[in-house]
Amino acid sequence: MSSRTTSLKILQLSDAHLSADCAADYRGQNAEQNLERLIPRAKGWKPDCLLLTGDISEDASPASYQRIAARLKCLSVPVLALPGNHDDPDEMRKHFPQGPWRGPLAYEAGPWLLILMDSTTRGSISGSISQQALDQMDLLVERSSAKHVLLGLHHQPVSVNAPWIDRYGLRDSERLFERLDRTDRLRCIVWGHVHHDFQSTRKGVLLLGAPSTVANSLPGTERFSLDPAGPACRWLKLGAHGSVATGILRRS
Ligand SMILES: [Fe+2]
Repeated sequence: MSSRTTSLKILQLSDAHLSADCAADYRGQNAEQNLERLIPRAKGWKPDCLLLTGDISEDASPASYQRIAARLKCLSVPVLALPGNHDDPDEMRKHFPQGPWRGPLAYEAGPWLLILMDSTTRGSISGSISQQALDQMDLLVERSSAKHVLLGLHHQPVSVNAPWIDRYGLRDSERLFERLDRTDRLRCIVWGHVHHDFQSTRKGVLLLGAPSTVANSLPGTERFSLDPAGPACRWLKLGAHGSVATGILRRS
């Protein structure tokens, strides 16, 4: 999908898995260095905003959030942040105030409404979204005059054909889809958690899973299998008329 008229350029950074210890190993990779190498590409792409789709930290340490927040400051754009199962929302919100910390976050930009939903459940790798949050999401969409909606969450609401992570997806995703099916303004759902580039559609809505900025798995594998292509992030161009163009950005 593509658009000649771009109204919003979003860069989605996901699953950075930073630790308090800069030298910590994550699946044989250094989270700090791999993120650092993506930053010049991210900056060069000139996004209008950043979307962090969770597991920003591996150990939920204050130091890890401080470092990534400081690093992203050089892009000088708004940062919207979602917690993942590794994150501590209370700690994370201190560094990323724009997130679904007291219910879903609504961020309006021209004809687009971005809704961020917290899909984490304390103590669980899998995700879920409460009935109350779904009610709040309905209200936000209903009250907004935006013509197009993008939904962001950490956990995948559909199978991504990778058993190692599909066993930890969003539980009760049918409840979410039942609500989403009530609007004809939803154009795209984006998530993290799956550590590979995933694309599909459902009832005309684009479904996108993001790669990780530290380590990715080859798609369709039973176990996590390190993708030699390395870390990456997703770019999105949301068109004024509802189109969604997207692709993957890797370090140069
Ligand atoms: Fe995750």
